[in-house]
Amino acid sequence: MEWREKYSVGHSEMDDDHKQIFAMVDSFSASLLAGDGPDRLNTVFDELLNYMDVHFIHEVGHMKEIGYPDLFDHVTMHEKMVEKLRRLYDQHKLDDASSVVAEDMAEFLENWWYAHILTEDMSYKEFAESR
Ligand SMILES: [Fe+2]
Repeated sequence: MEWREKYSVGHSEMDDDHKQIFAMVDSFSASLLAGDGPDRLNTVFDELLNYMDVHFIHEVGHMKEIGYPDLFDHVTMHEKMVEKLRRLYDQHKLDDASSVVAEDMAEFLENWWYAHILTEDMSYKEFAESR
């Protein structure tokens, strides 16, 4: 995934988190392409999921700090996404790098992150700038 200025949410800590997430999604995709075994794949994916949790906590802190009014809806979107991903993960685990599920997950993650930053995250940026 490629981070560009248009993905900046106007807060360096959030931007750094997002860059890190992009890199971790890339690691997961690279691991799939390399045909890594289940141990490695699951490790990479677990690290990504854990980091996303950490980031969402950071982001909630930031939204509270600026008094963002749509905090609840935003958090709900994070939760829905994580639930969907964890459900897929629990059902299938990553026992085969070439599995359609693993590829779907990588694609879902890429699309979700690009879209979420450009729409939902930009809303708190705009709010912060309008205060
Ligand atoms: Fe967000």
